[in-house]
Amino acid sequence: MIIKPIIQGVVARSAHPTGCHQAVLNQIDYVMHAPQITQGPKKVLVLGASSGFGLASRISLAFGGAQADTIGVSFERGPSDKGVGTAGWYNNIYFRQEAEKQGLIAKNFVGDAFSSDMRNQVIDYIKNEFGGQVDLVVYSLATGVRPNPETGELWRSAIKTSGEPVVGPTINIEKDCLESMEVGTATAEEMDSTIKVMGGEDWQSWIDMLAESNVLAQGCKTVAYSYVGPEVTYPIYHKGTLGSAKAHLHRTADQLNQTLNQLGGEAYVSVCKALVTKASVFIPAFSPYILSLFKVMKEKGTHEGCIEQMQRLFAQRLYMPSVPVDDARLIRIDDWELEPETQQQVKTLMAQMTADNFSQIGDYNGYKLDFLQLNGFGFSEVDYDAPVDVNKLALLQP
Ligand code: NAI
Repeated sequence: MIIKPIIQGVVARSAHPTGCHQAVLNQIDYVMHAPQITQGPKKVLVLGASSGFGLASRISLAFGGAQADTIGVSFERGPSDKGVGTAGWYNNIYFRQEAEKQGLIAKNFVGDAFSSDMRNQVIDYIKNEFGGQVDLVVYSLATGVRPNPETGELWRSAIKTSGEPVVGPTINIEKDCLESMEVGTATAEEMDSTIKVMGGEDWQSWIDMLAESNVLAQGCKTVAYSYVGPEVTYPIYHKGTLGSAKAHLHRTADQLNQTLNQLGGEAYVSVCKALVTKASVFIPAFSPYILSLFKVMKEKGTHEGCIEQMQRLFAQRLYMPSVPVDDARLIRIDDWELEPETQQQVKTLMAQMTADNFSQIGDYNGYKLDFLQLNGFGFSEVDYDAPVDVNKLALLQP
C-alpha cells in the first residue's frame, strides 16, 4: 500500500509509519549531539508520551544524557480496517525499539490516562517490573475531553476568550489558506469545563495516587507544560479558557511542590514555546502569530522545535543544581520566543499579513512541513512511493 497524506482542515487522516520512525530517529540524533543532561532521572513516567512535547521529553530523557528507563502512556490507534493507525501509535513502537537497542526499558501503555484502570496498570507495572519507583513524572496530556471520574460524564474543553469575541484569521492546512474565524466568549460552564480538562486536577490526582502507592522515589520531580505567550495573543490564549486552565495548572504545581517536598522532591510547570503539534493547530486565530514567530526566530537562529525545547529544559533547567524560575516559580523555556526584539519584529510582520500574502510574510512552508512531519510525511530520507506492507505493520505491538 502507498500511503499519502490526507488532511481535513487541520486534522491528518493518515500517517506514514516509516516517516514516524524517521521523526523518532531525527530527534534521537539531535539529543545525542546536544549539550547533555547531567544528574538526570533514571526512571521516568511520561503521561502523553506519543507526540509533541511528551514524546520529545521521553526521547530527551532516554537519549540526551540521562539514559532513563521510561513508561509512556498515550491514547493512540493501531492499524484496522479504518486505516493504518495514528502517528503516535508508530512513534511509541519505534521509540521502544530504539530504546531497547540501547538496553533501556521503554514500556508503552495505550489507553485512557484519565481512567483508574490505567492508573492501576501503571502502578502495578512500576511495583512489579520497573524497580518499584519513578523519579520523574512528566505530565504532557493534551485533549479536548475528560471524563468526570465520579460520574463518567464528559467535560469538554472550549477554546474561547473571556472578553469580547475575537475575529481573526486561522490556517486551513488542507486548502493552504487563511480563513476568518471568530473566537467567541466563553460561558461560565465552558470556562469551568476547560479548566477540568486542561487544568491541574488530573495531574494532581495522578501524583496523589502515585504517592499513596509509594511508587515515587526520594527526590522525585514532576513537570507539566504550559503556554503564556506575548500580549498580542492574550485575548485568544492567556485571557481565554486555555489560559485559565493553565493558571489552574500553575497553582497545582505549587500544591504538588508541597507534597513532593516531603519526599525531597519538587513540582514545576515549564512554560514552553508556541509550536506546531497535533493539539496546537486547533487554536483559532493563533496562526498569524505563529507564522510570524517562526519566520523571525528562524532568521535569528533561535527557532526551536519540541525536541530542542525539551533537551534545553532537562539539560539546562530542571536538572541544574538550582532550578532557575521566574517570580511565579515557572520555568521559562519560552525565553527566546519572548525576547523583546523578536516580539517587535513579529508584531511588524503580523500587521502586514493578509490572506493573500501570509505564505510570503510568514513561514507557512515551515509550519506546513512541521504538520506533515508530525504525521510522518515530508522527510527527504523516506521514499514515499515505496509500498508499505500493512500486514507486517499489523504485527507491530506498542
Ligand atoms: P500533543 O497532542 O502532541 O500530545 C498530547 C499527548 O496526550 C499525546 O501523547 C496523546 O496520545 C496524549 N493523550 C491525549 N488524551 C489522552 C488520554 N485520554 N489518555 C492518554 N493519553 C492521552 O500535544 P502537545 O502540544 O505536545 O501538548 C502537551 C502539553 O504541552 C499540553 O499541556 C500543552 O498545552 C502544552 N504546550 C503546548 C504548546 C504548543 O505550542 N504545542 C506550547 C506550550 C505548552
